[in-house]
Amino acid sequence: MVNPIKKQMLHVKHLQKSFKDNTVLEDVTFDVTSGEVFVLLGSNGAGKTTLVKILSTILPFDQGTACINGIDLTKDPAAIREKISLTGQFSAVDQELTGQENLLMIAALRHVKNKQEIVEDLLTRFDLVDASNRLVKDYSGGMRRRLDIAMSFIGEPDLLFLDEPTTGLDPQNRLATWHMIKEIAAQGRTIFLTTQYLEEAEFLADQVAILHEGKIILQGTPTEIKKLHPSQTMEINVLTKEHLQTLRQHLSDVPLQVNVSNLSLTLPVSQDFHHAFTLLQDLNQLPITITSFSQKNVSLEDIFLTLVQGGTQ
Ligand SMILES: Nc1ncnc2c1ncn2[C@@H]1O[C@H](COP(=O)(O)OP(=O)(O)O)[C@@H](O)[C@H]1O
Ligand SMILES: [Mg+2]
Repeated sequence: MVNPIKKQMLHVKHLQKSFKDNTVLEDVTFDVTSGEVFVLLGSNGAGKTTLVKILSTILPFDQGTACINGIDLTKDPAAIREKISLTGQFSAVDQELTGQENLLMIAALRHVKNKQEIVEDLLTRFDLVDASNRLVKDYSGGMRRRLDIAMSFIGEPDLLFLDEPTTGLDPQNRLATWHMIKEIAAQGRTIFLTTQYLEEAEFLADQVAILHEGKIILQGTPTEIKKLHPSQTMEINVLTKEHLQTLRQHLSDVPLQVNVSNLSLTLPVSQDFHHAFTLLQDLNQLPITITSFSQKNVSLEDIFLTLVQGGTQ
C-alpha cells in the first residue's frame, strides 16, 4: 500500500475543567495523529496532569468533546481503557515486589498471553535484567522510571500516556529514557507525553503543543516552534544610557528586549557560537563600552514571556 492514510488517534475540542472556582482547563483543542509522539509542554501547575487524567478516563471533565480512536470518552470509557496505558507523574510500581513481579502482575491484569516471554523482552530492552529479581524499593530512581515505562508498554496499547516521564531524573537516565521512548515510538504507537522541558520536546516530539493558562497557545513541529523562537539569547550590558541607545539603533532590525534600568538588552542568537562571536566583533566597532555579556539557553519560561507579553518588558 502506498501512502497509508494517517488516522486520528485523539481528538479534543473545547475541553473545559474546573476544580471548584479554579478553572484549570479553559478551552483546550487539539488533535493527535496515529503513530506520532505528541508532546504537551507546560510549566508546573499548567494543567498537564489534569488533562492526562481526563484523557485516560480517570477524571471527569465539565464541557467539550474528547475521542480516542473515534470512541467518545464519556460514552465508552471501558473500551478506551483497553486501548491505552498510563504512566503517571508518580511511580505506580509496587515497592514490595521485584521488577519482574511488577511486570508479570501488569501482564496478568491486561490478559497478555505469552506473559513470561514479553516480560523477559521488556527487562532486556529496558536494561533491567540484572535487577529483575531485586525488590523495587532497592531500585534507583532511574531504574524505577525505566520499570514504569516498561510497564506502560505491556498489552501493546495503541496510545501511551507518559506524564513527565523524566522529571527528577539525572541527565544520564533522562537520555536513556528518551531513547527508550523513541524506540517505542518507532514501533508505530502513539505517544502522548507531558514535560516541562523544551529540550525534551525537541528531542522526542513530532508535534508540540504548549498549554498555558488553560489553553493551547501554540502547536507545531519542533522545527516550526524553534523557527518562531530562537534557542539561545545573548544579554549585553553597557556602561551608559547613551551606549544603550546607540546599541539599540545599531540593532534596529533585531527583536530586542531592552532593560533600561539594568543598561542591558537581550537578543536572539543561534546555537552555534560563530553567530555570537560575529555579533560581538561587529558591536566592538561601535563607540560603546560593553561591560559584560552572557549567552543562555531559552527556557520554556522565556517562550511563554515572548508569547504572552509579546517580548516587551
Ligand atoms: N484534585 C484536584 N483538586 C483541586 N485542584 C486540583 C486537583 N488536581 C489539580 N488541581 C489544580 O489544578 C492545577 C493544575 O494542576 P496539574 O494538572 O497537576 O498541573 P501540571 O501537571 O501541569 O503541573 C493546579 O492549580 C492544581 O492545584
Ligand atoms: Mg503534572
